[in-house]
Amino acid sequence: MNVRNPRDIEAMLERLKLVPVVSLPSVQAGLELAEILIDHNLPVIEVTFRTPYAADAISAMKEKFNELLILAGTVLAKDQVDIASDAGAECIVIPGFHAGLVDYCQAKNLMVCPGTVTPSEVLQCYHMGLKTVKFFPAEVSGGAAMLKAMAAVFTDMKFMPTGGINLNNLREYLSLDSVFCCGGSWLAPEDMLQQEKWDAIAQRIGLATKQIDQQL
Ligand code: 3PG
Repeated sequence: MNVRNPRDIEAMLERLKLVPVVSLPSVQAGLELAEILIDHNLPVIEVTFRTPYAADAISAMKEKFNELLILAGTVLAKDQVDIASDAGAECIVIPGFHAGLVDYCQAKNLMVCPGTVTPSEVLQCYHMGLKTVKFFPAEVSGGAAMLKAMAAVFTDMKFMPTGGINLNNLREYLSLDSVFCCGGSWLAPEDMLQQEKWDAIAQRIGLATKQIDQQL
C-alpha cells in the first residue's frame, strides 16, 4: 500500500479544500460514494468510526481506488488508530485534543488532526509540533470570527473547520488564510447514504466543487 507522508497529505488537503465527512451504513455505500467523489475530482473522504463498517469500508475503498485519500474520523482510542491505519487510512482525525493519541500517531509517522476549539488546545498542539489542527465544532464555537481571532495569535497554524459547515458558509471559511480545508457531512449525510440517494449526493458534491473552483 502506498502511504503518503504527512506533509504530502497536508498539501493534498490544501489543494482539494473540502473533505466529505461520512458515517457509512455499509461497505457498499462507501464504494458507491468513492466513485462519485473520484468522478468529481475530489478524491478524499473522512470515514468516521461511528458505524461498525468504518474499517472494512476503508479497506475496500483503498483496494478499489488507490488514489483516494482516506482520513479516519471520530478516532477516540489507540486501537482505532491501528485499525484505521492498517485498513489504509492516511490521516487520523480526533474530535478533541489528547496528547497520548497525538503522540501515538506521530510515533507511527501518521498525519494526525486533533480537534481544537480554544487557544489552550491549539497551544498544546503547537507544542507537539503540529502545524494543522481541526476546529470543531466550528459553527457553535464562534465560527469564522473565532477562527480569525485564534489565527491572529497562532500565525503558523492551519485549521480544518468542521461542524455546521455547508454550502452557505463554506466560502466564508475558505476565504480565511488560516483555513487549509473544510470538512462536512452535508455532502453525503447518513440518511441519504442509507436511502442510496446517489444522484442527490452527486449533486451536492458537484455544487460544492463548483463553488470551490469559482472561489480559486
Ligand atoms: C465531524 O466529525 O467533523 C463533524 O461531525 C462534521 O460536522 P457536520 O456533521 O456538522 O458537518
